[in-house]
Amino acid sequence: MVKAGLEVHTDAVANIVGIREGRSESPFVSTGSHIDTGVMWGTFDGALGVLGAIEAIRMLNDDKITTKLPIAIFSFTDEEGTYQGQAGSKYFARLLSKREVYETKNKYDGSKFADGVKNALMNDSLERFSIPTKNHIELHIEQGPILETENLQIGVVTGIVGIRWLYVTFRGKQAHAGACPMNLRRDPLIPASELALTVRQIALKHSEMVGTCGVINVKPNVINAIPNEATVGVDLRSLDRNELEQAMHEVMDASKQLAAKEHCEVEVHSVSEVGNPTIFPEEIVSFVRRNAESLGYSYRLMPSRAGHDTQTIAYIANVGMIFVPSRGGISHAPEEWTDVEQAHRGVKLLEECLIKLAQGK
Ligand code: HGY
Ligand code: MN
Ligand code: MN
Repeated sequence: MVKAGLEVHTDAVANIVGIREGRSESPFVSTGSHIDTGVMWGTFDGALGVLGAIEAIRMLNDDKITTKLPIAIFSFTDEEGTYQGQAGSKYFARLLSKREVYETKNKYDGSKFADGVKNALMNDSLERFSIPTKNHIELHIEQGPILETENLQIGVVTGIVGIRWLYVTFRGKQAHAGACPMNLRRDPLIPASELALTVRQIALKHSEMVGTCGVINVKPNVINAIPNEATVGVDLRSLDRNELEQAMHEVMDASKQLAAKEHCEVEVHSVSEVGNPTIFPEEIVSFVRRNAESLGYSYRLMPSRAGHDTQTIAYIANVGMIFVPSRGGISHAPEEWTDVEQAHRGVKLLEECLIKLAQGK
């Protein structure tokens, strides 16, 4: 960012912002994404939206383009939820206090955000950014198969799904895997396994929904002991808020019934509203679409089934997103890939949008 001539700041939760001055002070046009990722994941999710934005700024610099409005590039902390999901953008949008972010625990090792952030802060970090942004456009990989399947170059994003995360812990009676008779068992892994199957049924029942159980933790997790505890992590997503809330209740009701069947206790905990269903303003979607057309790119309108910081920024600005294809529709996996030509079309379209927005058009 510094090499691209941006004025760089970090804030108390280690968000990074690079600012390119305009002829007037505000409002800002903003862009950016996140550079945090997951263990054993890919290298484009989030990073393309930060590095691509810097590349767009370098293209403006090369063409000696000055703008009326200033441009800000954000790199938001903890979009992926290693701590709590979109934490950096929620802090920037004043939806979370510093304490609420600092108190959260790392899902991989249990350490506190307050400890991890120490080595990410600069000595002149600001407490908060005051960057009044009016229009925000995020460049991101699609992370699904649609653009590749339809052989299209660009996704003009129309909105983002709402996301709910919850953990369900079943508790039974730890006992010997051999000596404990089948009819006396209270095995928490049974309702936990049935819940994973039930989440799939609940998702399939609703038109706009997807449901995933990507986490299952068993204690003591040894082959010759009936577990005493089994925890399932549930990820529910839908573009329809009522459907999402209804599915949450269905998962909670099913958890109680499945636990009772196996004479186990059940606790639903760590329920989080990672993001709400977000429909982008029509004028921004058409604006991005017109620019894709003027560049001669093949495109389609589409919602995002992945969550993004943009659904948080939507609380304080007009927002839009640009997708580029993901090979094989794969993401959140080491095979995640986007060709440089595909990425560059996204950067070019982002540059086009930034110029027009920052000229106050
Ligand atoms: O989970 C998501 O959709 C995003 O990648 N954090
Ligand atoms: Mn992302
Ligand atoms: Mn992601």
